[in-house]
Amino acid sequence: MDLVLEGRAYVRGKLGRWSIGIEDGRIAQIARTIRGGERLDLGDMIILPGAIDPHVHFRDPGMTDKEDFSTGTLAAACGGVTTVLDMPNTLPPAVTASKLAEKKEAIARKAWVDYGLFAGCMAGADIEAMAPLAVGFKVFMGSSTGRLLVTEDLDLAKIAALVKRTGKVLSVHAEDEAMIEHGEERSPVDHLRNRPAAAEVAAIRRLSALDCRINVCHVSSADGLQALEGLPFTKEVTAHHMLLDRDSDIGAYGKVNPPLRTKEDRLALFQAFISGRIDMLGSDHAPHAIEDKEQEFDVAPSGVPGVETTVPMMLALMKKGTLPLEVLVSAMAERPAEVFGLNKGCLEVGRYADLMVIDPRATVPIKVNNLHSKCGWTPFEGWDAIFPHAVFVRGELVVEDGEPAGERAGRDVVAAERS
Ligand code: DOR
Ligand code: ZN
Ligand code: ZN
Repeated sequence: MDLVLEGRAYVRGKLGRWSIGIEDGRIAQIARTIRGGERLDLGDMIILPGAIDPHVHFRDPGMTDKEDFSTGTLAAACGGVTTVLDMPNTLPPAVTASKLAEKKEAIARKAWVDYGLFAGCMAGADIEAMAPLAVGFKVFMGSSTGRLLVTEDLDLAKIAALVKRTGKVLSVHAEDEAMIEHGEERSPVDHLRNRPAAAEVAAIRRLSALDCRINVCHVSSADGLQALEGLPFTKEVTAHHMLLDRDSDIGAYGKVNPPLRTKEDRLALFQAFISGRIDMLGSDHAPHAIEDKEQEFDVAPSGVPGVETTVPMMLALMKKGTLPLEVLVSAMAERPAEVFGLNKGCLEVGRYADLMVIDPRATVPIKVNNLHSKCGWTPFEGWDAIFPHAVFVRGELVVEDGEPAGERAGRDVVAAERS
């Protein structure tokens, strides 16, 4: 055994005292005691599966002044995220097999955690060619950062039919472009008026006609949740839509798509999440530079960072008793692994040893100076969080005592499965 972790571990749906034996990057044994190998006694600390964030926008290539794959994945690691799935609205956008291959080359050897890339779908996309390189596919039905957009039902149906043949998931930004106003905005309230919940509902209704595996990204409204009832789609929520709303006093820092909505929407999402009705927790980490966010509301770009704060804030809510541990582990690790077909996401023999170790007594306020994203701001300054004490990616220590450690060992989850 290369390494044996001893502590309280979340195994088969509950916490218990276990020894976890790691060999060649995988969990090789889970037993009360394991002999041999280097041991790490974690006392009362808790060993959880590393989180899989199914939705980040690292800005590599093309906008690496805002984030690059190194800073983005370092932030991820320090936030307990051992795998990130990166969106295609980089520069150039990852919308063809050759652009995806170029992106892979640009980010190679930069990552602290494992990663998968989404292939962006535009009308007429060569989906078959992109499939071997992509962890999943992405469609924007409403315009946001970048130029990816599909507005016509016929194009959506063609994309869905081709995605279905790949067996992979189509993650969708579900806001109906035809229902978005592009008029002047001075506040989050205006931004919400321009992008109403009805646009989310309309997009979901249009998706219901499609035949492939669909994941609805960042569900943001009570009406959107209701529209999803009975549909065979998976659902993703963000921390910002569950914890912030249009009345949060953060100006353009709270400008994001879909928008922050009403308190009722926020509470409906949070309730759905804590009661286990949401498949996945995603950060939608969208780092924009402070200078860009400091502009007039109308011209400031949309998006908030979150890859380092999402899981730690949820761990603090778990400690408080608001969020059941089994719901959190399911949404941050087990379900994303299932949905995207990754051999990770739970403490089980044969899975990759992606783990985080947390001290449940270590609640601290979030401070931007302690975060690792290049963007240098957070809408969650001062919020309670439990940052992991240690993080392992395939058995390699990447965070120790809450600080980066070891070597960058991240690799592409899709390439790794094929080799
Ligand atoms: O607010 C957003 N920002 N929504 C998106 O869909 C994209 C993201 C970004 O990349 O900045
Ligand atoms: Zn989106
Ligand atoms: Zn996004």
